[in-house]
Amino acid sequence: MINLLLLFITFSLSKQCNEYNQGYEIDTVDSAFECIESIETTEKENEDIIKGLKEYLEVYVLKDILKNPPQPSFSNNYYEKVDIDAELNKINTKTTSMYEFYSQIQNLIISTRDSHLQFYVDYELNKPNSELVYFYYFLPFTLYIDNNKKMYLIPRNEPLGIPIDVPEEIVNNEKVAVKTINGEDPFNIIREFGKKYMGLKCPHAQFTLAKDYLVEGYLNILPLPKEYLNTPISITWENGESLTINYKIIKLNRSNQKFQQVLERSKRRGIRDRLRIEDLEETNKTRTKENENNEYQPNCSPENKICCLTTSNKINTLIVNTFDVTGKSVTNKINEFIDKLNECVDLFDSNNYPIQLIFSKNSGGSVLLSSAIEKILSPYDDVDYIGSVRISDFTEDIIKKSSYIESMYDPETCERREQENNPKTFGEWYSNPSIIKYGDVEHKVSQPSKIIFDKLIQTPSLGIHQLKKLMKNKRKPTEIVVYTDSYCYSACSWVTKGLKEWGGAIIVGFDGDPYGKDEEFEVGLSPSNNIPDINDIDKDNILKQYGYNLGLTVRETYRFNYEYNESIPREFLTDMIDERVNIYQFDQTEKVIKEFEGETKKIIEKYQTKCNPNNKRLVKRDEKCDKEINIEHGHGGYECGDNGEWSTKCVMAYCDDGYKFDYNNNKCIEDVCVNPPTESESDNGTTSMTVNLVMTIIGIITLIL
Ligand SMILES: *[C@@H]1O[C@H](CO)[C@@H](O)[C@H](O)[C@H]1NC(C)=O
Ligand SMILES: *[C@@H]1O[C@H](CO)[C@@H](O)[C@H](O)[C@H]1NC(C)=O
Ligand SMILES: *[C@@H]1O[C@H](CO)[C@@H](O)[C@H](O)[C@H]1NC(C)=O
Repeated sequence: MINLLLLFITFSLSKQCNEYNQGYEIDTVDSAFECIESIETTEKENEDIIKGLKEYLEVYVLKDILKNPPQPSFSNNYYEKVDIDAELNKINTKTTSMYEFYSQIQNLIISTRDSHLQFYVDYELNKPNSELVYFYYFLPFTLYIDNNKKMYLIPRNEPLGIPIDVPEEIVNNEKVAVKTINGEDPFNIIREFGKKYMGLKCPHAQFTLAKDYLVEGYLNILPLPKEYLNTPISITWENGESLTINYKIIKLNRSNQKFQQVLERSKRRGIRDRLRIEDLEETNKTRTKENENNEYQPNCSPENKICCLTTSNKINTLIVNTFDVTGKSVTNKINEFIDKLNECVDLFDSNNYPIQLIFSKNSGGSVLLSSAIEKILSPYDDVDYIGSVRISDFTEDIIKKSSYIESMYDPETCERREQENNPKTFGEWYSNPSIIKYGDVEHKVSQPSKIIFDKLIQTPSLGIHQLKKLMKNKRKPTEIVVYTDSYCYSACSWVTKGLKEWGGAIIVGFDGDPYGKDEEFEVGLSPSNNIPDINDIDKDNILKQYGYNLGLTVRETYRFNYEYNESIPREFLTDMIDERVNIYQFDQTEKVIKEFEGETKKIIEKYQTKCNPNNKRLVKRDEKCDKEINIEHGHGGYECGDNGEWSTKCVMAYCDDGYKFDYNNNKCIEDVCVNPPTESESDNGTTSMTVNLVMTIIGIITLIL
């Protein structure tokens, strides 16, 4: 009898998943974890998954370098060492808790600091693991850091549109700076969270993103440990008030209409940020009345992928929120972006003001579009990248069966690498791979190849609208300021790292860790190609059978070295900002854009005479110096001196259209992919090029990064 009773008590205390029968439920961590921990796996399932991961990760192009990464000059442990196979072997497959197993794999993935590497529950497959998708953790506030580097907690009434109770201390102290969290510097909690849970290499990027994920997220995307979520957070404000709070969990019901809409939207947008937080928020918050009728709105609202404006402050602003065009009607989305970019070019051509470009939490997308942005700002940049794939059976499959990876070209002849036979055949470039060594570690990759965007951007074809002109009114690099929060991911980093390498603009950091080092502030992360969805390529794979999906980095890119003998991918080469400003928040309001305008003015003014002594690529372009350059097709400017002022040393910095600037050898080399430049010479702004594209529409559609 007693036993029965005990049994009964145990059952009634333990909440099974099917007891959630509302549209949603706000729950304690312990109670929610009773459901989460009841989602089961088996030893066989776990072992199958580990085996599957090992096979697929043969494609993972950064797998070798991770075992022994070369370090940057400023640190000997900036890049962490990870032996993926060894770590996979260590995973405990005996567990029957799906969450435990899943968390172990996520921890391994985080340790690679590569957010292109993703192993995730694919809820559309509707396997038992999809139960996890419906759990959302949150705190009743968001974090705000003002420009004086103070932290504030902003009460948050309706996460996911669901009303919650906000402790009155939070409400009352909204305007009081936080003094400590858990007895420490309040920024530590963000730093530590970032280091522990954000799969990003740069500490500033970790911080930028951790600020969001600390206060809310989905447990399928970030499976935080129950112990972490159960740890109380104690806050004291500068006025002496204090509060201790805990995380709570919202469990959504599958048939909750709002949730269905979110799933629908995230499906359309693609996988990279499947179930992003913003989807669930009311996005109208920045569209306040005061903003509706001023010069900043409605041209530039957060819903636009891209927008531009020019204000009475005499600064042109370009904001690119995303390069993402995945989902339905990719061509239309690309065209909308390009049409808008064309309008922006017209706008910027209508005056001589400097240009500021703002990237805030830009998580990437199409490199076609990011290359277009770079080309508009800095027309002499080379946007024909150099890259390689790792030799493996599944790599061949990906290239043959899918169009995720754009075509590759022979850098010497500009001929396409894979022949369009059926089946596609691979040549020397693949069968006779390059061997790169990182200490004892061997990295076997296809011969470096070109990934061509320049021609594509400037040539109307295949239903893609033409970027009808490059800017007539070209700005000098010292008249262009590009803002990055360091979480300028994937396609976004192709722009910022490209501009940095070519000296095309002044790159400025904002957001990030207010007290972190400027010398560790990277302009962007992961200039690589990934595939987000192996289930799309390999329809019957073992991971899919269990309800999972995998995304990974497939192609690494290299610095622009026309001897094509680079060995370290740009993913492991840091590019740092030139300047830093104290702006820790971005939204598209007049107030914030004005702050950026003010900073831009100061920076442009500074660069009249001063510069970044660590950046020799950004020169002060000048006609007098240009005349002194007697290398054919070459142009130049004054280099930055070691004292941080422009020197009188006149150096070559770029070459005529149709030529590429070979920095290592200080010469201009003919671009084999472009016909001799006579045809584009006649224009004044409109660059016309012959349609001689070998790319297929497929190649364009799938620039998913
Ligand atoms: C979801 O919520 C509805 C009411 O909104 C309820 O009828 C249904 O049983 C719930 N479903 C589950 C699986 O809990
Ligand atoms: C946002 O604002 C627009 C008009 O400004 C309105 O039509 C729309 O319904 C609003 N959306 C939400 C989610 O409130
Ligand atoms: C590439 O080759 C050139 C010429 O052979 C050599 O001078 C240069 O050091 C090499 N660069 C790298 C990164 O190996």
